[in-house]
Amino acid sequence: MTDTVLIVGAGGLAKEVADLVTAIGMEVEAFYAESSAQVLHPIAGVAVIDDLDAVKSRYAVVAIGDTAARKRFCGILGGRFELPTLVHPLACVSGSARLSEGVLVMQNAVVNSGADIGRGALLNVACCVAHDCHVGAYSHLAPATQMGGGSSVGEGVFCGTSSVVLPNTEVGEWSVCGAGAVVTTIIPARCLAVGIPARPVKQL
Ligand SMILES: CC(C)(COP(=O)(O)OP(=O)(O)OC[C@H]1O[C@@H](n2cnc3c(N)ncnc32)[C@H](O)[C@@H]1OP(=O)(O)O)[C@@H](O)C(=O)NCCC(=O)NCCS
Repeated sequence: MTDTVLIVGAGGLAKEVADLVTAIGMEVEAFYAESSAQVLHPIAGVAVIDDLDAVKSRYAVVAIGDTAARKRFCGILGGRFELPTLVHPLACVSGSARLSEGVLVMQNAVVNSGADIGRGALLNVACCVAHDCHVGAYSHLAPATQMGGGSSVGEGVFCGTSSVVLPNTEVGEWSVCGAGAVVTTIIPARCLAVGIPARPVKQL
């Protein structure tokens, strides 16, 4: 029997994660949205629900890009569902990389040797995590993010599309790097950093 999955989220990312789920031979039981307005609009014929008690699946995946929401839902779901680690067949993950529970690796992402990916992190399309990198729990590397060898992002970091974290540099927990930013040094925790080189422009 095919395993079914609850997808938490009902936006564009949820549709992409549904493709990932079917690409690995699982089925989407339903999408979950907190807003009852979204419940009225099935996605590709699959219901959007707002009641977790109605779910039969053993598995749930968080398909929300916001990192604080990723943490919140991993907490809510962790007690009642398994949070599988899902790797798209078109992604490439080294046998020596460590992926924690609830990690999603989208198509064309690369995770190289010795990389360590924390719980509930989202490695979006075509991002590259080089050798010995650390990606903190619940972080989201947006499409085409590049992390150089030995670099690190803390818990809850969001790296915008096509951002670059140079080798051996670091982004502090819950910080945001704008699209196209190039991190050349240590970015402190809880700030927004943009530009080349990336500079903090505000506290979060
Ligand atoms: C960085 C980002 C999150 C900022 O959003 P915000 O909190 O609303 O911040 P603001 O728009 O107020 O921007 C603050 C300042 O940074 C500048 N800025 C914003 N994004 C920037 C970027 N990517 N590169 C350079 N400067 C940027 C703004 O122009 C503004 O400068 P100003 O104060 O001189 O006018 C957003 O612009 C961004 O880059 N998002 C990435 C989106 C993405 O990659 N999504 C992928 C989804 S899968």
